[in-house]
Amino acid sequence: MTDRDRELTALDLESLWHPLVQHRDLAAAPPRRIERAEGSFLYDSDGRRWLDGVAGIWCVNVGHGRTELADVAREQMAKLAFVPLTMSHEPAIRLAAKLLDLLGYRAKVYFSNSGSEANEAAFKIVRQYHAQSAGGARRHKIIARYRGYHGNTLGALSATGQAERRLGYEPLAPGFVFTSAPDPYREDVDCADALEKTILREGVESVAAFIMEPIIAGGGILIPPDDYLPRVREICDRYGVLLILDEVVTGFGRTGKMFGHQHWGVHPDIITLAKGIASGYMPLAATVVRDEIFDAFNGPADGLDHFRHINTYAGHPVATAVALRNLEIIEREGLCDRAAKMGEMLLRELAPLGAHPKVGDIRGRGLLIGIELVEDRATREPLAPSTTAAIVGHCAAEGVLIGRTTNTTPGLSNVLILAPPLTIREDEARSIVVAVERALHKELPTNGSEPSRP
Ligand SMILES: Cc1ncc(COP(=O)(O)O)c(C=O)c1O
Repeated sequence: MTDRDRELTALDLESLWHPLVQHRDLAAAPPRRIERAEGSFLYDSDGRRWLDGVAGIWCVNVGHGRTELADVAREQMAKLAFVPLTMSHEPAIRLAAKLLDLLGYRAKVYFSNSGSEANEAAFKIVRQYHAQSAGGARRHKIIARYRGYHGNTLGALSATGQAERRLGYEPLAPGFVFTSAPDPYREDVDCADALEKTILREGVESVAAFIMEPIIAGGGILIPPDDYLPRVREICDRYGVLLILDEVVTGFGRTGKMFGHQHWGVHPDIITLAKGIASGYMPLAATVVRDEIFDAFNGPADGLDHFRHINTYAGHPVATAVALRNLEIIEREGLCDRAAKMGEMLLRELAPLGAHPKVGDIRGRGLLIGIELVEDRATREPLAPSTTAAIVGHCAAEGVLIGRTTNTTPGLSNVLILAPPLTIREDEARSIVVAVERALHKELPTNGSEPSRP
């Protein structure tokens, strides 16, 4: 370890507050200090390389180290580093038009900087829309789902159905109500029916919107049955409830299509986007609102009908320029199809792990894959969080970074998560499978069914 390494580690522990970790543990195992990245790999301060099986936080869709995006950022920064979107600029205009082109319906794009902010904007838009639409004055409630995640600002957290993210920060914003999300492995519940009942019990005239992730990501990779989203759309239409789809994770090729909802042919009223929009090269998010809703925000110049909301850096020229080129790369390199094919290949290669007595379920769409671990296959009792963490640790010891459900629903920190860059090569994807297989057998040996691979 060099003097510089020692200095940076000491400064890190003295100065930085890291998310989602117990700092007490960091003195013994300081966070990995990553110095550079390329393709599917991160390189740390010791020169060791790590296969990034979670694409940062499921965001680096085009892979690491794209100098093309750095060039776009440099050029844009030199030309015009900042102007707020109370005025306008070409990268934001072109990116908004491109997003609408990809979505295929008439809408307006409201930019912000993070997934949480995109959802905050959506919540305010649905409430204001109803407040200034005929007969909608009482509609203010937002129905969300247990297990879902929508961000950690207070409004977005209020829509997050994960007790371990909420505890200690409550009471949260009023006006958020929860219903069940489909979890085909654990429950046989008709969740579309449950949504309808929730709307009726709350009182139709009080409900403004329903928010959901097309596939719950951080809450455990929960893929709904095929009739769920179409039925949700019908129910929302029947009761005048707006449908917000949070595609912060599922957008931009992650699930094998440009947007997650395209698997089910259903259009939302509002869609929220972040992460893959700029593949993590810049912070950016968007709330895309159908024209029928946007039209309710037109009023006299001296009135209050317009959207009274701004984030200084929203629609930043550099972020939007980079996002535009990022989308060009996703299309040019066919990364949606690639994610679909690599996802199928990964699921095929992972399938034999299903024979392990502690593997309850393996599921995924595109490159968003979950492996649910259990103590006992018959009872489906979830594997203990410490054992699941140890499996992630064994993969890391082999240089493969994978994720897991962390501080979400009590008792359910038992799902391993794979979400590599969409550019991942076949041999790299195979090495994730090998690492998971070895980690499972190391932590949970099964007498005689050791991994067949070298
Ligand atoms: C589905 C979903 N929505 C919203 C967010 C919040 O995004 P951000 O962390 O950019 O605020 C996340 C973050 O992981 C997410 O997974």
